[in-house]
Amino acid sequence: LSPRLRGCNLYFIGMMGSGKSTVGDLVARRMGTYNFLDTDTILERAAGMSIPEVFEAEGEEAFRVAEAQVLDSVHAHVRIVVSTGGGLVMRNQNWSKLQTGLVVYLKVDPEVIMKRIEGTDRPLLQTDNPLETLQKLTEERKERYEQADVTVEIEEGMSVEDVADKCVRAL
Ligand code: S3P
Repeated sequence: LSPRLRGCNLYFIGMMGSGKSTVGDLVARRMGTYNFLDTDTILERAAGMSIPEVFEAEGEEAFRVAEAQVLDSVHAHVRIVVSTGGGLVMRNQNWSKLQTGLVVYLKVDPEVIMKRIEGTDRPLLQTDNPLETLQKLTEERKERYEQADVTVEIEEGMSVEDVADKCVRAL
């Protein structure tokens, strides 16, 4: 394992549908002594509701506050791989936590993401033109995602194992 990584936490950032959770879990397994955590899953358990239900009941701003609290609570753990919700990078305060570890950006084209998230419930994509919304969000967040320590580009057709391998090699 690279000296950069030995013992430090790993944070996956990137758009919804970029594979942060599946890849993060695989990478944690490959690293042996790391545990995997997902901010969306922790938030859902704490709220007793799904993410779409939280958006519906409380609105996006309340979701963002809760998401930041989840990050606060996990970042003190050691040897964790964390998958973060796609919009978490937009709050400046969250970066002080992310920067305590190594930040990995999973970069995927919106067109490829659209194919991967078909049939899943993403509250921010409940619009007339989900691809256009995804392109707009990607553009708005680009600068933040590019603050990552490591960027891993995902091409269409790569399996999650391929992506996990590419991440581990890049660390
Ligand atoms: C969001 C991404 C979702 C979830 C929420 C908002 C976003 O997480 O946090 O729907 O703003 O991009 P994933 O990136 O895990 O899908």
